[in-house]
Amino acid sequence: MGAVNAVADLAIEGEIAVLALDSPPVNALSHILREGIFNGIKQAIGNDAVKTIVLICRGRTFVAGADITEFGKPMKSPSFNDVLGLIEGSPKPVIAALHGTALGGGLELALSCHYRVSVPSAKGGLPEVHLGIIPGAGGTQRLPRIVGPRRALEMITSGAHVNAATLHREGLLDEIVAEDELRAGAIAFAAKVIAQKMPLKKIRNLDEKLAEVRGKPAFFAEFRAANARKFRGFLAPEYGIRAIEAAVDLPFEEGLAFEGRLFEELLKSPQSAAQRYAFFAERQAGKIPDIADDTPIIPIAKTGVIGAGTMGGGISMNFANAGIPVTIVEANQEALDRGLGVIRKNYENTAKRGRLKPEDVERRMNLLKGSLDMQDLADCDLVIEAVFEDMDIKKSVFTRLDGIVKQGAILATNTSYLNVNEIAAMTRRPEHVIGLHFFSPANVMRLLEIVRGKATSKSVIATSMKLAKKIGKIAVLVGVCHGFVGNRMLAARQAQANAMLMEGAMPWDIDKVLYDFGMPMGPFAMADLAGLDIGWKKATSSSANIREVLCEMDRRGQKTGAGFYDYDDKRNARPSPVTEKLVNDFLAKAGVTPRKITDEEILERCIHTMINEGAKILEEKIAIRASDIDIVWINGYGWPVYRGGPMFYADTLGLAHVVAKLKEHAPKLGAGFSISPLLEKLAATGQRFQDLQ
Ligand code: 3HC
Ligand code: NAI
Repeated sequence: MGAVNAVADLAIEGEIAVLALDSPPVNALSHILREGIFNGIKQAIGNDAVKTIVLICRGRTFVAGADITEFGKPMKSPSFNDVLGLIEGSPKPVIAALHGTALGGGLELALSCHYRVSVPSAKGGLPEVHLGIIPGAGGTQRLPRIVGPRRALEMITSGAHVNAATLHREGLLDEIVAEDELRAGAIAFAAKVIAQKMPLKKIRNLDEKLAEVRGKPAFFAEFRAANARKFRGFLAPEYGIRAIEAAVDLPFEEGLAFEGRLFEELLKSPQSAAQRYAFFAERQAGKIPDIADDTPIIPIAKTGVIGAGTMGGGISMNFANAGIPVTIVEANQEALDRGLGVIRKNYENTAKRGRLKPEDVERRMNLLKGSLDMQDLADCDLVIEAVFEDMDIKKSVFTRLDGIVKQGAILATNTSYLNVNEIAAMTRRPEHVIGLHFFSPANVMRLLEIVRGKATSKSVIATSMKLAKKIGKIAVLVGVCHGFVGNRMLAARQAQANAMLMEGAMPWDIDKVLYDFGMPMGPFAMADLAGLDIGWKKATSSSANIREVLCEMDRRGQKTGAGFYDYDDKRNARPSPVTEKLVNDFLAKAGVTPRKITDEEILERCIHTMINEGAKILEEKIAIRASDIDIVWINGYGWPVYRGGPMFYADTLGLAHVVAKLKEHAPKLGAGFSISPLLEKLAATGQRFQDLQ
């Protein structure tokens, strides 16, 4: 025995055959790997000395799924189901030995085996839903048979990675073996299978758990209703539910065929194309062309945050969650107590929902040290400033930090709009200054815009990118401009939304169009949520705009029970007659006769102007690539991932179409509007933003 092919190796140890797969980086089920498994299993079956077969992977993980790069191409034989069918039908028990992440086709492979063992750190899941598809190698048919339809629904529609202990408890894993001894543990298990003459356990033959819900359509209806909000707009979760219904109602082979049809249909859908694009875009964002992999990383053992307000508190939680101590400096005791109190309450709420152990609340709180003295930041490796959005205050904070914090440390600002170069210039170490722009709520939102100043060193950038990953963020490197990538494009959209109010649309008309497009909320609902008084200073009311007048009326958004909308005590929004009258008064005063604005115009003026701004951002090299802009919008603003981000969406519309529409609307887009030359050029030559990469 020995090499089966370039990625599979078969070793015979007495009565046990060990088929080891090794296809870096993640042992994806590419053609060559499928071939290696198929031929390896066949050889083992054909070897009379062998009584059981162990399937194990080398490298960082067990099979992490189908090879996504092969999607869309005809599948070369052997297919997934050929491989899985051979294993399941093997007359000799096959034992899957899992480590790392057994995902998608990887978990499906394991489910076709007769037994499964794993190390404690392993995880398993069916994350296909994140790629806009469903499991296509029997996952929707086998998983409910072993963990039950309810858990299968949860796992398949959420794509969650489930830890080994849970999988063991739920019956998916037969045994957990010692962490560093997977091979030996799996062989010992195989020996037990032989010694005890354990049967060929085929998941396809299990029926007990399915029978519990058979003939009970209400079971599925309830699941759909309970998750309707979460699944809104997405095809794949609904298809996953249908496939599990088929598992319950149909014989195994028919269910498998039904799954196959749904899988194929989704694979061809625009949603899946967008979600697969987003998967690779996210990984691409981590690659910075001029920064080498071996760029020195600054160790970050101790951090500081200045300001314990909305952002400072959330930012600090990220570090505490990752076990990194944080010193939080505030201007006064009251603000410090309030800030720490909010953090504690956040953790306690999470604990109440069962998502954090009570002792972890204390462990995390113990990592946070409050202070009123900036001197306490002297030995921090990274300090993030999150004080008011005011250049003078930020400048004075950085001047002081420069004199206090040790050399070599990173000094970061969380500014939303301000010029990072100007802030850096206040220090004698601008190469150590960077923008770390978190999104609110900072402990929840996954996006981090990392703002590269003109002097920022490569080492500081590389360290920030790495740290972002450690605290669970998706980082996108951007350049300095007003509002960076996300907020700058948001401003383009907001300008159109405001303008349309002054032409006859009501806030809820505009919000509805964007909500129906798939955004979590429209610009006015978002303003109400954030607070209308952000950056508001009581102005001379003669020149105040609609938003400012609402503030003067003490309608400052959700927190005051009213803003653009009226809110009930559960914060449900209703269109407000007060706002409607206010908007109409503004129109009357300006002598404007309101007109009916179509949904199409609302959408195009909001979205196409954002795309245009995105093109300018690319032209100015504020973003490295169009897909980085998409990652910002998906992860920072809830852009529906099934539409792949604004730049990808523009590509699907066709850039010539986008330009034509912008030209059509141009007279209404405002004096400051101009079409991006890059956008026009791409449109004229029939190119896409994706072609720039
Ligand atoms: N196919 C092809 N390439 C893949 C891949 C896959 N399934 N999974 C990961 N890769 C590539 C990544 O693109 C990346 O490539 P790069 O280095 O050139 O950028 C490399 O492997 C390493 O990936 P990560 O940077 O993501 O590594 P991490 O260690 O952070 O994460 C992981 C590893 C958890 C396995 C993560 O990569 C992941 O979630 N992968 C996708 C898993 C998945 O969705 N599986 C289901 C696929 S669909 C399927 O199986 C259909 C079936 O039902 C028929
Ligand atoms: P905030 O008003 O909630 O908090 C600011 C805190 O800084 C206050 O608690 C204040 O007492 C404290 N502070 C002010 N000067 C200080 C000083 N010299 N020393 C120590 N503490 C001081 O403001 P928020 O919303 O947290 O914003 C902070 C920064 O984050 C701003 O630059 C803002 O633009 C940015 N930001 C805000 C987002 C948001 O949605 N709120 C999103 C992303 C960035």
